[in-house]
Amino acid sequence: MSAHVDNPVVLLLSGPNLNLLGEREPKIYGPETLADHVATAAAAAEDLGLDLEHLQSNHEGVIIDAIHTARRRCAAIIINPGALTHYAWSLHDALAAFDGPVIELHLSDPKSREPWRHVSVVEPVATLTIAGHGGDGYRMAIEAAAKELGVT
Ligand code: DQA
Repeated sequence: MSAHVDNPVVLLLSGPNLNLLGEREPKIYGPETLADHVATAAAAAEDLGLDLEHLQSNHEGVIIDAIHTARRRCAAIIINPGALTHYAWSLHDALAAFDGPVIELHLSDPKSREPWRHVSVVEPVATLTIAGHGGDGYRMAIEAAAKELGVT
């Protein structure tokens, strides 16, 4: 992915266990790896004149630090928080302190799964949520970010 000085930067964040995509519960999450999804997002971003950065971490604090560093530097955040979605209020607060659009992204549809997945602490601070579209969601999230940023 090639960076252009004037392009808005979109930060894609991937939470715990998403590094195992491709091997982890493929009946739920599909056969693609995280690298496949990042490549999908990067291609869509390039088409739309956005620069994509990606970070995956299994550690809540690392993701929160990345959100802080994105303040005033990144135009939008797309985040698949993994299971942090359902309980990490520190993540909620960090995203609330980010000025641009926040797109919550899930491969599966957590609201049609176990009851503990029905609550999202990210949803109240997300501009919109994309869930249940598998890998297509990554392209959809980039398109949604572009629309929110007015670059389409
Ligand atoms: C997920 C859904 C979460 O409930 C789960 O903990 C994940 C992945 C998804 O992409 O469908 O790790 O965010």
